[in-house]
Amino acid sequence: MADRWDSALYDDRHSFVWKKAGDLIDLLDPVTGERILDLGCGTGHLTAQIAARGATVVGLDASASMIAQARQNYPKLAFVLGDARALRFDEPFDAVFSNAALHWIPQANPVIAGVAAALKPSGRFVLEMGAKGNIAQIAEALTAVLEEAGHAARNPWYFPSAGEYASLLEVNGFEVRTMETFERWNKLEHPERGLREWLEMFAGVWFDGVPTGSRTEIVARIESRLRPALWRDGVWWADYKRLRVVARLGVFPIE
Ligand SMILES: C[S@@+](CC[C@H](N)C(=O)[O-])C[C@H]1O[C@@H](n2cnc3c(N)ncnc32)[C@H](O)[C@@H]1O
Repeated sequence: MADRWDSALYDDRHSFVWKKAGDLIDLLDPVTGERILDLGCGTGHLTAQIAARGATVVGLDASASMIAQARQNYPKLAFVLGDARALRFDEPFDAVFSNAALHWIPQANPVIAGVAAALKPSGRFVLEMGAKGNIAQIAEALTAVLEEAGHAARNPWYFPSAGEYASLLEVNGFEVRTMETFERWNKLEHPERGLREWLEMFAGVWFDGVPTGSRTEIVARIESRLRPALWRDGVWWADYKRLRVVARLGVFPIE
């Protein structure tokens, strides 16, 4: 898998991703002695917060750049390079945690099946990801501007509805304990370049096949299209909508 993640840019300008998810760790409620997997751990900041609560935690990510940065940030913690669609662990986990990673993987079923297989009986799966409608205005502008310029719209994101994700969890033997979707618009860090930097960090796939010389103009057109909706009080906002889930592996047999 090509590594598209710039871990330095992530830590430097996009720390809101993990800073906004601190209360997700309260939902996970890790306790001393538990063994927990942080799926799509990125640069390891939430992995470290879980470890600080006394759990033994393993961070897994498919990006070599993210794993290298995580190891540098937290040398005492365990990080492994791996794909969430092909989990292989000898020892089962009490819980699997994931923040802002699962919407990068359209193949949700193998991921959830792998999580189920990696958990102890009654193990929990606590996650946050983009919900259906997440960054809808940004995706619409990317699609419209790229197509107007004669390029294919390459949308890499998977933003399921609560109903869709609940069904996938149940098929894989989970019982959904709590599930919520909510709007959480994010103020982007740099006032003028905020949207441009967000696109650079998270929307690279959309620009595959776009000649480098045309990119600045296309980004400027995307900014013009989004300015009326996402530029407020002198800053850019991203129209985030999240899905949060606490699920438990059922002790009942799968029908
Ligand atoms: C926005 S980052 C979130 C990182 C971290 N969870 C946080 O909250 O800061 C998304 C992460 O998902 C990882 N990812 C994407 N696809 C993956 C896959 N198939 N398997 C494992 N990790 C994946 C990326 O490499 C990236 O580090």
